[in-house]
Amino acid sequence: MSRLLITGGAGFVGSNLAVSLAARHPEWEVFVLDNLYRRGSELNLPRLEAAGVEFVKGDVRELDDLKRLPELSALIECSAEPSVMSGVDGDTSYLVHTNLTGAYNCLELARRDGAFMVFLSTSRVYPVEPQLSLKLEEAPTRFELAEEQDVAGASAAGISEEFPIAGARTLYGTTKLAAELLIEEYRGSAIRSNTSASAAGESRSATCSTSRIWSTWSSASFSIPSSGTGAQSTPAVVASAASRCWRRRRSAAS
Ligand SMILES: NC(=O)c1ccc[n+]([C@@H]2O[C@H](COP(=O)([O-])OP(=O)(O)OC[C@H]3O[C@@H](n4cnc5c(N)ncnc54)[C@H](O)[C@@H]3O)[C@@H](O)[C@H]2O)c1
Repeated sequence: MSRLLITGGAGFVGSNLAVSLAARHPEWEVFVLDNLYRRGSELNLPRLEAAGVEFVKGDVRELDDLKRLPELSALIECSAEPSVMSGVDGDTSYLVHTNLTGAYNCLELARRDGAFMVFLSTSRVYPVEPQLSLKLEEAPTRFELAEEQDVAGASAAGISEEFPIAGARTLYGTTKLAAELLIEEYRGSAIRSNTSASAAGESRSATCSTSRIWSTWSSASFSIPSSGTGAQSTPAVVASAASRCWRRRRSAAS
């Protein structure tokens, strides 16, 4: 059986993902961890329960809260302090430790089990200044990006990874970008899994390679490829992507 953990799983994206993935994959054990920091996230608990998703109260800032969890096949990190205003009052600790230390702790948990990990980043990783120079065209109901742009990585299709990343962007965007850099280290370098034994009892020491730390998702709200089915919500896009990821994993394993 595949065991999937969604951190921040009582939030908007996490809870919708949990319910959707549990319905699509009844053979999976899906559970969520959340500290219910976000007001209203507790309102999602009955819906999670009805979907057969187990709730664990815990904090991603605390590695011990994560280490207590059973062995995972996969982890989707949806916990965050996602406000661009967070920290402007001088109280930066919660934001930095949830978004950055939390991502680090999730990486360590994924490494422990050689588990897949999907990280939800944000388009806010792109700095403010170059965005202010983007050329816009007025359409009947809104402004749209012009096809011709002076900034690399910008077009009418949106913002790509070639967009410049130097400059200030908000503390929220900075913690997400810093987490992406951390993820690159776990993807690209030979940081080895601590997992010593598989279910079958044999020795296993997996490297957290690109195939396991599967994706960061930074340009989500700008450049989700259009499939012709119209705009999809953030949870719907991540749910399809996660399903594709697991299908690839199953076919690679067989
Ligand atoms: N909603 C969007 O359209 C969107 C767009 C771009 C990126 N994102 C990213 O997607 C992720 C989920 O966003 P969301 O809209 O669901 O936000 P949300 O605030 O609804 O959910 C975040 C959840 O994390 C929990 N949480 C906060 N601090 C925690 C901690 N220390 N330990 C454990 N849980 C904690 C909160 O209680 C909440 O339930 C975030 O990383 C966000 O940056 C969302």
